[in-house]
Amino acid sequence: MKSKLLNIITSEKGKIFSGESLSNQLGVSRVSVWKHIKKLQELGYEIESGPTGYRFIKAPDSLYEWEFPGRESRIHFFQEVVSTMHNAKELARKGCPDFSVVVAERQTQGRGRLKRQWFSEAGGLYFTVILRPDISPSMMSSYSFAASLNLARVLIEEYGIDAKVKWPNDILIEGKKISGMLCEMEMESDRVSFLNIGIGMNVNNHPQQFESNSVSLKELLKREIPRKDVLTKFLDRFEKELEMDSLDHIIDEWKKYTMTLNRQVKIVTGTEAYEGKAVDVDENGALILEQPDLSIKKVFYGDCFHQNG
Ligand code: BTN
Repeated sequence: MKSKLLNIITSEKGKIFSGESLSNQLGVSRVSVWKHIKKLQELGYEIESGPTGYRFIKAPDSLYEWEFPGRESRIHFFQEVVSTMHNAKELARKGCPDFSVVVAERQTQGRGRLKRQWFSEAGGLYFTVILRPDISPSMMSSYSFAASLNLARVLIEEYGIDAKVKWPNDILIEGKKISGMLCEMEMESDRVSFLNIGIGMNVNNHPQQFESNSVSLKELLKREIPRKDVLTKFLDRFEKELEMDSLDHIIDEWKKYTMTLNRQVKIVTGTEAYEGKAVDVDENGALILEQPDLSIKKVFYGDCFHQNG
């Protein structure tokens, strides 16, 4: 109902919609219209109500389900969670449909890769997409690489930003991190039963207090960006990509956007570190390193540090 109501009152800028016309269009009583308007006002929507009707002024930077028309039933919005990964796992285990999304305003213990913390201050975008692909675990990387590729494309094509992907799935702007990704999956008899892709993106926040080498979309564009727009654009592209017959092209496509290849890197896993030239990424998403003694090393996970800038 809120989605339909917002759709109508935002359809013509500055127009006053009478309670009667809204109740006719929505097929509910005028009291019900008034109640929904009141609720929206309480949630931060600026809607003027006067003797002749209602006038929409401004929406808050919100991520409520009804901000995603056509997806409402698969969006699970929370004001505060420990981590969207946790809620996503619970939903997936209960059998939620493919491409359900958990999104939260705040996370009290947002999780980063390699057991790090992901600080989740107000204004950032924090969400986990639940996928149910019928694949073997070895194919998982095509999905995470497809996610980072499509997020980078959103930044480039929709916001005109020179985004690059850093192996495995970070997105950087001029060397500064704007987004990171965490993947989790569960298996049943050698098949993936769900694959959860969690993404944190600096949108309207100021992340430098937690992570010095980072940047937000607002800082880059010098204006607030509605987070629902970023999320919608990403989900639309990512879902379309996953509907393709095959994801065999993903890693090659990803390579066009990466700044990791052909440069000296250091990869740090919990216990080990490898240095060398990043020469390729194989079909499973592993980074191929040419080590100083010219031997080849395949690295499957780890933190990647670009040397020489
Ligand atoms: C990283 O770069 O280390 C990965 C960061 C992933 C953060 C996101 S925010 C949404 C989801 N929930 C979490 O707790 N983590 C991921």
